[in-house]
Amino acid sequence: MSNWEARYATRANRMRASEIRELLKLLDQPDIISFAGGIPDPALFPAEAFRKAYERALSDGQAGPALQYSVSEGYAPLREWIAERLNDLGITCGIDNIVITSGSQQALDYLGKLFLSPSDTALVTSPTYLGALQAFNAYEPNYDRLAVDQGNMTPAAYHDAAARSGGRAKFAYINPDFSNPAGETLSLAAREQLLDLAEEMDIPIIEDAAYQGLRYDGDAVPPILALDIARNGDIDATRTIYCGTFSKTLSPGLRLGWVCAAKPVIRKLVLMKQAADLHSPTINQMAMYHAAVDIYDEQIERLRSVYGRRRDNVLAALEKYMPEGVSWTRPEGGMFIWVTLPEDIDGAKLLARSIETERVAFVPGQAFHADGSGTNTIRLSFSLASDEIADTGIARLGRLIRQVMSEAI
Ligand SMILES: Cc1ncc(COP(=O)(O)O)c(C=O)c1O
Repeated sequence: MSNWEARYATRANRMRASEIRELLKLLDQPDIISFAGGIPDPALFPAEAFRKAYERALSDGQAGPALQYSVSEGYAPLREWIAERLNDLGITCGIDNIVITSGSQQALDYLGKLFLSPSDTALVTSPTYLGALQAFNAYEPNYDRLAVDQGNMTPAAYHDAAARSGGRAKFAYINPDFSNPAGETLSLAAREQLLDLAEEMDIPIIEDAAYQGLRYDGDAVPPILALDIARNGDIDATRTIYCGTFSKTLSPGLRLGWVCAAKPVIRKLVLMKQAADLHSPTINQMAMYHAAVDIYDEQIERLRSVYGRRRDNVLAALEKYMPEGVSWTRPEGGMFIWVTLPEDIDGAKLLARSIETERVAFVPGQAFHADGSGTNTIRLSFSLASDEIADTGIARLGRLIRQVMSEAI
């Protein structure tokens, strides 16, 4: 059969591999210093704890259930463990408020599917997590800009804009802790403002808490869901849908995340999970439970110390090597630093040149903007930046940016 493009549903129109993806494929070459991939350092995976955890899951009496189909809600002891942790953060919930998903990415897909009809509007920050845009895009939405810290539009203006583009404003999506890609954390006041806006607009908030546990300094800020519960007295009366994940702390390869929200939303997500993949792998859920009970706190301490130091090194190198006119965020946690270049420097062109001449990689920022802006921004990930490469890599990048700036004059 030929001409596949003509046969796809309209929702497939926005599913395209970017040129940047092609460029980033080159990163396997050993001489490239990469600040591109936003992934955990595999040297920090708790492999021994998982070896024991899988052995336990497959031990006598457990092997049958571990290898069997299981319920769509997820493994109850794992949900209980998550509920306890969330309660410590001020999210008063029980296991009926939690569904296990295959990574938080699956949760974003389900939430797009649950809330967005074609031409509805999703409110997202600019920049926002690219994977969220990819997940939501399949449901053919429009986007409007959430600017909690810089002053949102009024609720009426958001609603009017959504109506003009043929649908309704359906939710606000935000990554409030050490965001991907900007590395920024939403202040307590901004979280309250966002809740005010969502209440006035009467829309849900999707709180993507992927990096929540990875704080290296500064004071913890309560999750938006905790603030929502404090306002409304009960999780079942809240509008915030909290997405968590084990990917950034224990392992992304097991593909385990969760959603915590009011029971009606969870019940709907369970039905969606049943229809899509029945449940997340039973044995992985059991092994994750054992590993989490065993070493979660220890693991978090280790990650905080290693990643915190890597962040410090990259920030110090930026200070040392970046020319005037370049600015960057100073994240209190997570994996990312967001760099703003002078207006006329294009991040994508800079990447092509950087790979060719300096052998340094990063992600150009434009793809993280639903409206195509942000051409003069780039994302640096420090999660894999060992002491040696942080200094060398940023020195080379600084040299290239100086060079490009001098050419522009
Ligand atoms: C902000 C954010 N949300 C969600 C995810 C998805 O993670 P996972 O599906 O592995 O839980 C990521 C991964 O990079 C992320 O950065």
